[in-house]
Amino acid sequence: MSPDELKRKVAEAAFIYLEHLVQADWVLGIGTGSTVNRFIDCLAESSQTFVGAVSSSVQTTERLKTYNIKVIDINDVSEVMVYVDGADEVDPRFALIKGGGGALTREKIVASMANKFVCIVDESKLVDCLGDFPVPVEVLPLASHTVATQLSKLGGHPKLRSGLTDNGNCILDVSGLEIDEPDYWERTINDIPGVVTTGIFSLHRPQEIFVARADGSIDHRVGP
Ligand code: A5P
Repeated sequence: MSPDELKRKVAEAAFIYLEHLVQADWVLGIGTGSTVNRFIDCLAESSQTFVGAVSSSVQTTERLKTYNIKVIDINDVSEVMVYVDGADEVDPRFALIKGGGGALTREKIVASMANKFVCIVDESKLVDCLGDFPVPVEVLPLASHTVATQLSKLGGHPKLRSGLTDNGNCILDVSGLEIDEPDYWERTINDIPGVVTTGIFSLHRPQEIFVARADGSIDHRVGP
């Protein structure tokens, strides 16, 4: 199956699973990326009722609005019942690298608010140890140089991504890190002054993951 077909398959599988759980008074959290876009398509085609969605990016907000799905400001909700998002890498214990699309900060905020985080990926995202995919780190623009220096001291090779995030910040993509202890690495990078968010999602891991296999079959895994 093509990568696009796998994204559609895994999004549909997660949608069918959640369709039975979602209640009319629920607020959903919606991630960012090409896999989640397929999930939004499922929402748009269904008659599922829910209060609305908290969005993790400008891109997702625009897509939701195109489909007339109500978008609710993060500050106006205290609880997100379920958050659905993709990932760039997933380790065997469900720690993630996210932020390839640059939306890591809002994604992490919404993930932290969610009662349940459901991650949807194809099997190309599964790894034994995080770090082959460069870790995105969102950084205040005025601190990009000093943060890059600190990341180099930790053994990383930071590269400044062109453009700014939805929040007006820079992203450093850090290769060369072997994220064998994701909790430690998430905290260590977060502690560098000037860092807004690291794309390591270890302290707020998904509880459930749907994985599309190359043959189109779906694994539904519940977290350790
Ligand atoms: C967005 O910033 C990312 O965290 C995405 O969730 C991640 O890059 C997965 O995107 P795709 O579904 O497009 O692979």
